[in-house]
Amino acid sequence: MEKVYSKKVENLSESITIAISTLARELKEQGKDILSFSAGEPDFDTPKVIKDEAIKAMDSGFTKYTAVAGIPDLLKAISLKLERDNNLKYETNEIVVSSGAKHSLYNVFESLINVGDEVIIPSPYWVTYPELVTYCGGKNVFIQTTQENNFKITKEQLRNAITNKTKFLVLTTPSNPTGMVYSKEELEDIADALKDTNIWVISDEIYEKLVYDGKFISTASINSHMLERTITINGLSKSVAMTGWRMGYLATKDKNLRKLIVNLQSQSMSNINSITQKASIAALDGRAETDIENMKIAFKKRRDLACELFSKINGLKVSKPDGAFYLFINCESINKNSMQFCKDLLEREGVAVVPGIGFGMDGYFRFSFATDLDSIKKGIERIYKFCKS
Ligand SMILES: Cc1ncc(COP(=O)(O)O)c(C=O)c1O
Repeated sequence: MEKVYSKKVENLSESITIAISTLARELKEQGKDILSFSAGEPDFDTPKVIKDEAIKAMDSGFTKYTAVAGIPDLLKAISLKLERDNNLKYETNEIVVSSGAKHSLYNVFESLINVGDEVIIPSPYWVTYPELVTYCGGKNVFIQTTQENNFKITKEQLRNAITNKTKFLVLTTPSNPTGMVYSKEELEDIADALKDTNIWVISDEIYEKLVYDGKFISTASINSHMLERTITINGLSKSVAMTGWRMGYLATKDKNLRKLIVNLQSQSMSNINSITQKASIAALDGRAETDIENMKIAFKKRRDLACELFSKINGLKVSKPDGAFYLFINCESINKNSMQFCKDLLEREGVAVVPGIGFGMDGYFRFSFATDLDSIKKGIERIYKFCKS
């Protein structure tokens, strides 16, 4: 039998983050002493108050199908959260809960992109965006940022990237992989560049709770035009250490778009699991606030230590990120080829970091500080040794 698979799916690449984590795991299983700084997830456990709600849901038999977009109590909790934390007014019928923010993004990309549409993505970017654009038949238009400009796009760059085929702009604030956070003024500049266009904005705000300096501003909160054109994406994976629970959501003022997304979800995966939905309410309504704050304090300590130690290594250039849990470090003067740099570092010193090329920027690597202080110290000592040799 001749086997022919979907070209669309065959063309998807494996995420470089996952590839490096897998290689590190394999070396570990062979008995090598590996320190991994490649993971994109908090090392903390999910707060107890959330787990207790999950147990309650199971014990009370809350184990059946639910409404596709999410149970009313959860949609209400999200709506209240968006108003309280982000100054955004979304009704419950303007929100859809999906299986992680990645799934929310998939739903939006699939529902907006037609073949040939252009999508503007600031680079470096989170690996999934360009893969999804290509999968949906769109064309990626990258805006290259620089470390000197804190990896942020400018109004002029955005204006120059816009054509009559531009469908949407993807903004990630705080950013994976750089940790930069757009300020109110910078978002106003972006709003200004988009003013007389029909361009949507997908604002991925999944690291919102992890901002250490300055204030987090939601893209849609800038003005009424931005509220109309922006689809706000968020979730619980990073902010409440719930990566395995798979809870993400989107909010849009466009009820037609929301309807398309609910239809797509109803024909593909239906509702996310009922137990996660019940538990997620406790993560959103303030009951987990102390846990969230404690995690943030721990992350800030790790960021400060990692930045201080990296700044002492000749040949590396690090900028202190305002948010998320990543450092995006320039290693050009040691090796411009980030893949080679990361492979050599893993093989020689047993340290796993992710090559910048995977995020669209060679000559850099991403170091995740979502791990304990001792490991961070030990790992950076090894990187120091590697860079010296
Ligand atoms: C910027 C960004 N958006 C979305 C996600 C996906 O999160 P979720 O676990 O909710 O699918 C990630 C995970 O790494 C991310 O870094």
